[in-house]
Amino acid sequence: MSTPAYEQFPAGTAAIVIGGGNGIGEATCLLLGARGVAVTVVDRSGEAADAVAEAITAAGGSAYGAAADVTDEAALRAVFDGAVERNGTVHAVINSAGIQGPLGRRSHEVEVEEFERTLAVNLTPGLIIARVAIPHFLERGYGRIVHVASIAGKEGNPNMIGYSSSKAGLIGLVKSQGKEYAQDGITVNALAPAVIRTPFLDSQPQEVVDYMLAKIPMGRTGELTEIAEMLAFIASPAAGFTTGFTFDLSGGRATY
Ligand SMILES: NC(=O)c1ccc[n+]([C@@H]2O[C@H](COP(=O)([O-])OP(=O)(O)OC[C@H]3O[C@@H](n4cnc5c(N)ncnc54)[C@H](O)[C@@H]3O)[C@@H](O)[C@H]2O)c1
Repeated sequence: MSTPAYEQFPAGTAAIVIGGGNGIGEATCLLLGARGVAVTVVDRSGEAADAVAEAITAAGGSAYGAAADVTDEAALRAVFDGAVERNGTVHAVINSAGIQGPLGRRSHEVEVEEFERTLAVNLTPGLIIARVAIPHFLERGYGRIVHVASIAGKEGNPNMIGYSSSKAGLIGLVKSQGKEYAQDGITVNALAPAVIRTPFLDSQPQEVVDYMLAKIPMGRTGELTEIAEMLAFIASPAAGFTTGFTFDLSGGRATY
């Protein structure tokens, strides 16, 4: 029996990648661009977003860079409306923006404000992005939202209380949203990577990296290409029968 061949992204597909200026988001933008997707690269650093968009267009793809903070609903709405204007529609939003929050301290030493700031950047945008994108997706009867969560949200890394809590929150958020829109052609999923080699990782204290590596049965970090491929798949029409789910990318650390 032969498997029918299909294009991962039909011609005219448009996606928005938030936090696309660096690391995982950047790698995902480059992959989507190479696969013919019109990519709107969004980052709080407009310079980083523009540089990634330029790299995509230089390689023959279609991209546009925009500065916006993922916590700013009005700015995200303007970016979304701009993408619809340029491309006719938006099919997928991938959210890779995230911060580490307070590190290396136990909970009793963490200020409430720094905890809340971590939730504001890593968790609340799950609601903001839904408010911005879902009305458009409902009109079209199609849409994909993918959030980059973390293994820390599944297992809870010590001394990363804001980060672990915010990512656990995202995992719960997609479970809820996935069910809400399950009959509307819209999927909402997350991805929970263990350690991926990026600038984000390079800024972590060595003991945190060692702690995370020691828990990965494959004994290595994940590659940017591996995570970009999985995000592209979840954001594609091919991933049509999975919603409210958190995909694993952990080298065997999480088998649930
Ligand atoms: N690298 C890893 O090992 C790893 C593991 C698990 C989860 N993650 C998650 O993956 C995501 C991406 O991580 P990365 O390693 O690529 O990080 P990174 O720091 O390399 O890239 C993150 C990007 O998000 C942008 N950003 C940060 N805050 C923003 C905001 N408020 N508004 C808009 N843009 C903002 C940054 O400017 C940056 O370009 C994060 O959510 C992180 O928690 C990373």
